[in-house]
Amino acid sequence: MAGGEGQQTRDRGFDLRARLRERERRGLERSLDTAESAAPRTRFDGDERLVFASNNYLGLATDDRVQAAAAEAAREVGAGAGASRLVTGDTTAHRALERELADTKDTDRALVFSSGYAANVGTLTALDPDVVFSDELNHAVYDHCDPHSLGAAMREREDDDGSWLVVTDTVFSMDGDVAPLHDLCDVAERHGAWVMADEAHATGLYEDGGGIAERDGLGDRVDVRLGTLSKALGSQGGYVAGSETLVRYLVNAARSFVFSTGLAPPAAGAARKALAISRTGDCRERLWANVARLRDGLESLGYEVRGDTQILPVMVGDREDAVALADSLREQGVVAPAIRPPTVPEGTSRIRVAPTAAHTREEIDDCIAAFETVGGRLDLL
Ligand SMILES: Cc1ncc(COP(=O)(O)O)c(C=O)c1O
Repeated sequence: MAGGEGQQTRDRGFDLRARLRERERRGLERSLDTAESAAPRTRFDGDERLVFASNNYLGLATDDRVQAAAAEAAREVGAGAGASRLVTGDTTAHRALERELADTKDTDRALVFSSGYAANVGTLTALDPDVVFSDELNHAVYDHCDPHSLGAAMREREDDDGSWLVVTDTVFSMDGDVAPLHDLCDVAERHGAWVMADEAHATGLYEDGGGIAERDGLGDRVDVRLGTLSKALGSQGGYVAGSETLVRYLVNAARSFVFSTGLAPPAAGAARKALAISRTGDCRERLWANVARLRDGLESLGYEVRGDTQILPVMVGDREDAVALADSLREQGVVAPAIRPPTVPEGTSRIRVAPTAAHTREEIDDCIAAFETVGGRLDLL
């Protein structure tokens, strides 16, 4: 008899302590640090800090009008959607937001998911492409932002049939650079492939509250336009915008949509208000003014600041130096994380600095001053 008396039960559990020890040994163990609010100046475990690490680029997460819209949606529609959109969770809050997203993107329709992550995973698995060509900073297929490398990768597979999908971010979260979307579309079209662009770090920041596809007038050449409501729009959730057929298909086939409760109505209400503000308000101008001031200030201290967007990677090189710089900045009251391998290649460790529209000019100057003090102390300047 299996498992009879006296027979020792085998341990088929999970040795999580060993897994954690391994992470710790590699310097990769992470922990949580609790903030009092999503505002640019807030308390972490009691100590006030200036945050230059958030993706709340337009500062809308704590905007009164956005918070009021969330409260109103909670009151009128509910704190939660209660069920999958396909059951009873498809509410007026979702539909209104989707109409406005489709309007800014000039697409037939948009579909919101419970996160940008869910939108990505659900869409990719539903499309189920035979071949994915992905920027190496998404995965590892063609060289970063290099349409020639994409062309070469496609020529290599020229004899393969099936469905081909080129997947790229438009603004890259760790490098702050912008994909050459026009040229990527050219190459994809030459080979009959579709393009899926993730505008997570661009949505809301460009023309009419759009992303890079709107900035560059490429909307009709990108088949699957995807993004998040959780960064510049200050809320929570993700979206896909595209043709009626694409959205109808995802409603049926994207498992993260079908088998998940609809996006919380307060998140939908907040995102809708934030989208309206980003289309017409002056927050985009305030963001870009802060970005320019901070970039100039850091460069004039002697730091190398990469990127062409609101994300400012301040290059350090050595991983220990980057960690020491981030720790010292924190002691000076500035939160900006060290980004190191394996997130970025060896020798390119950096501090990722993300100013927002909600920082005051004085706060930008305080950040520059902190970089000056600690950079000098650590001999990095
Ligand atoms: C490029 C990109 N896509 C999608 C996401 C996920 O979006 P969300 O935070 O809404 O899940 C992120 C980061 O969070 C991202 O950097």
